[in-house]
Amino acid sequence: MKTFQVSLLVSACILATLSLLADGQTLEPKKKRDRCDYEQPTCGICGRKINVTIIATNSLQGDNFELTVPIIREHKRNLLSFLQQAAELENGFKFQATYFANLGYYIDSINGVRASPENKTYWQISSDGVSLQCGVSSYVPKNEDVILFNFTTYQNAGY
Ligand SMILES: *[C@@H]1O[C@H](CO)[C@@H](O)[C@H](O)[C@H]1NC(C)=O
Ligand SMILES: *[C@@H]1O[C@H](CO)[C@@H](O)[C@H](O)[C@H]1NC(C)=O
Ligand SMILES: *[C@@H]1O[C@H](CO)[C@@H](O)[C@H](O)[C@H]1NC(C)=O
Repeated sequence: MKTFQVSLLVSACILATLSLLADGQTLEPKKKRDRCDYEQPTCGICGRKINVTIIATNSLQGDNFELTVPIIREHKRNLLSFLQQAAELENGFKFQATYFANLGYYIDSINGVRASPENKTYWQISSDGVSLQCGVSSYVPKNEDVILFNFTTYQNAGY
């Protein structure tokens, strides 16, 4: 199980995006501005612009923290993209994730606070108080969504 740095993830995503665009069945080659202004591929790469708030809290282990990152007018995409935005906008916000085939990315750590099977800890993700049934690669936030990443234990989460 390999953990990749966010920067690698970002580059990988950019490469993936570029190669998707290069495939470009749907995109016009001559357009100069942000292609998202012209095309909204069904794959969801460039959705309409929405506002999402990302909150990360750790009240469990080490130095506790609560970080709130408002993300204004970003294209609607999966939650992972908004996490990347949060990392770009807020220096104090860092995360690491591991990719699992068919499942997508799993959040290993936020700001160095790491999920651990020994401690039965993980980063629980909820939207407006409702625990997400899918991960950061599958969940697509809605406008004005408040996404909470809360460092917690399996027991506290009711498992
Ligand atoms: C997002 O927030 C900005 C600034 O508060 C606001 O002008 C804009 O209308 C909002 N966008 C949506 C889709 O609600
Ligand atoms: C398990 O929890 C302890 C106490 O909170 C912490 O010091 C330790 O780093 C955790 N272990 C892992 C692998 O994160
Ligand atoms: C976040 O996790 C902490 C530690 O497990 C827990 O006490 C708290 O109730 C959780 N908060 C939410 C909003 O779920």
